[in-house]
Amino acid sequence: MRVYFFGDLHGNAYALEACMKHMDRIKPDEVYCLGDLAGWLPFGDRTLERIRAAGFPTVAGNHDLLIAGAIVDRPEQIDRMQATAYNAGLIFPVPGAIEFLLGLPLAIRSEAFTVVHHAPFVLPSGTGEPSIRCFDYLDEKALRGFIPAWRDYPDRLIFSGHDHIPAVYELPDAGDVVIHRHGARDESLRIRIEEKSRYWIKAGSVGGPYRDGIPAANSVVYDSKEETITLHRIGYDTGPLYETLASHRFCRNLPTMAKYVELLRSGKPPAEK
Ligand SMILES: [Fe+2]
Repeated sequence: MRVYFFGDLHGNAYALEACMKHMDRIKPDEVYCLGDLAGWLPFGDRTLERIRAAGFPTVAGNHDLLIAGAIVDRPEQIDRMQATAYNAGLIFPVPGAIEFLLGLPLAIRSEAFTVVHHAPFVLPSGTGEPSIRCFDYLDEKALRGFIPAWRDYPDRLIFSGHDHIPAVYELPDAGDVVIHRHGARDESLRIRIEEKSRYWIKAGSVGGPYRDGIPAANSVVYDSKEETITLHRIGYDTGPLYETLASHRFCRNLPTMAKYVELLRSGKPPAEK
């Protein structure tokens, strides 16, 4: 069985269409969406409606919950809050859209794997409510802190998004975490699943902003027969997206979006200041 995972669309309908075409070519048996349908780009209503119509099982991302007013952002996240407010303005008038976001589960478990936007180890249990603390980014310290819970977690495979950097984190039964990433321009990365390891797969982002500096739609395929995980980087024509964002006045107010537009213009990440 082949299972397709993708998420972090963030309003980028161009990248989403490229991903859907890729899916059509792969012909997976199952498809899961990893959340963050909207947020960042000022077109979250478009990607939300596309996913709602497609009917894929989908987990809630932090942006989905922020837009729906289910969680409250950290006060220092000024960029993200502005993007949330803009997208809430687009999405609230769409009939049923907020109810759809509020109805998304935080995690989906199958026999073989868990699907979650970020980490299953920090989600509330039972009827507990999520908070923005469930979505802190995965840095070295956070990864170290998760290891005990990860070793005890019942599923060997966890598929998630959130960080916008595609990677496969492998935790052997004995030993330290091994991180598998694409080479700078590789279109795909295939990992063979070892019997004595656990895997936490970060799919990267379909729609951006692309924190790995590569403007391509990212997705993952799990092949249960071959016992492989493949990270895919799907190239698409970013010209129309660049034109649309560069001329959209909302993007000028957000450093995150201005950086994203610069990446699309130059094809490479802006130099760190
Ligand atoms: Fe995201």
